[in-house]
Amino acid sequence: MSTVALDVDAVRARFSALQSPTAFFDGPGGTQCPDAVIDAIAGYLRESNANLGGPFGNSRRSDALLTQAHLTAAGFLGCEPSEAIFGQNMTTLNFMLTRTLGRTLRAGDEILVTRLDHDGNVAPWLELAHDLDLKVGFVDLHDDTTLDLDDLERQLTGRTRVVAFTLASNAVGTLTDAKRIVELAHEAGALAWADAVHFGPHGPIDVASLGADVLLCSPYKFFGPHLGLAYGRSELLESWRPYKVRPSDMTPLANRFETGTLAHELLAGFVAAVEHIESIGWTAIQSHERALGQQFLDGLPANVTLYGLPSMDGRVPTFAFNVDGHTPRAVAERLAEREIAVWDGNYYAVEVMDRLGLGGDGAVRVGFVHYNTPAEVDRLLDALGEL
Ligand SMILES: Cc1ncc(COP(=O)(O)O)c(C=O)c1O
Repeated sequence: MSTVALDVDAVRARFSALQSPTAFFDGPGGTQCPDAVIDAIAGYLRESNANLGGPFGNSRRSDALLTQAHLTAAGFLGCEPSEAIFGQNMTTLNFMLTRTLGRTLRAGDEILVTRLDHDGNVAPWLELAHDLDLKVGFVDLHDDTTLDLDDLERQLTGRTRVVAFTLASNAVGTLTDAKRIVELAHEAGALAWADAVHFGPHGPIDVASLGADVLLCSPYKFFGPHLGLAYGRSELLESWRPYKVRPSDMTPLANRFETGTLAHELLAGFVAAVEHIESIGWTAIQSHERALGQQFLDGLPANVTLYGLPSMDGRVPTFAFNVDGHTPRAVAERLAEREIAVWDGNYYAVEVMDRLGLGGDGAVRVGFVHYNTPAEVDRLLDALGEL
């Protein structure tokens, strides 16, 4: 990867939230927003707040914002604007989309999910299976937390309708070979249903080159407000009968699935979040994140047990670990006392945590994003060493 320097001080100056003493390593649970995002949300409410379709200024501006938000989402995901569906969050969108697909499924149809996934891409399938008498299979992991693609191949059958998988683990940071998974799903005649929530802040998404049929992400994980965003391939969306109220328009396509009034102000924030990322560029973001991740791995004290891949290859800089003699919660509390924000528990990644024998208290999780600094990583390593 080419190295493009990221001016992290200049980046941080864009975030009021980062002017506090806290080192925010809680990004996997949601990132901080640059002021541009906050201003866009407030600006919408000040100057454009209205419902859609009216002849007056605020309503016309709201219409224009919706158009812009879909255009921005299309650019971000590599799809058509009408294929980008906004909703409350990934989980709610996924329950809605899986339910809608469910209208085309029959008892005995099979769904494959993976043990690397967050429950947001597992439970909707389990509930659908409960309702429709489907079969759900779990694709296993290798001991190093990479996905076992041989196991995926073994479990694909002529009845497999969907392969649901993640681009990156929100627990241990492991990436999947998404292109290969899509290929295998399609060869078996199944849909490829991707969870890009954890990958979102770490790299570019391109549904066209990935070939996924459905992909979901959450703008609040990539410097935007609390929102969900889904891509659905147009032919697929066209073929479904949506759960919608009768007067709402069937076009543009996404409108069928965006039930009720959207959070317009958050769409304004979403547009600003994508502009923020574009103004920095993925190359600079990725090389900065990789350096932080490597610094963390190189400096891990002996009292820390890391789970998952031990190098920066095949992963994003999200790390799960435990510290000898301390529960994950105690570690998180001790770090919080030092103004270091981290998570503990299972972060809803229940299968991978069980697979790692961490089904009880889970583990500590830190995640680095482009606004974190080498000095913050040093602070974290020192604090862990002193525990
Ligand atoms: C990988 C992954 N998938 C899905 C979700 C659920 O996202 P949301 O909170 O938008 O429903 C999360 C949230 O942490 C996640 O990390």
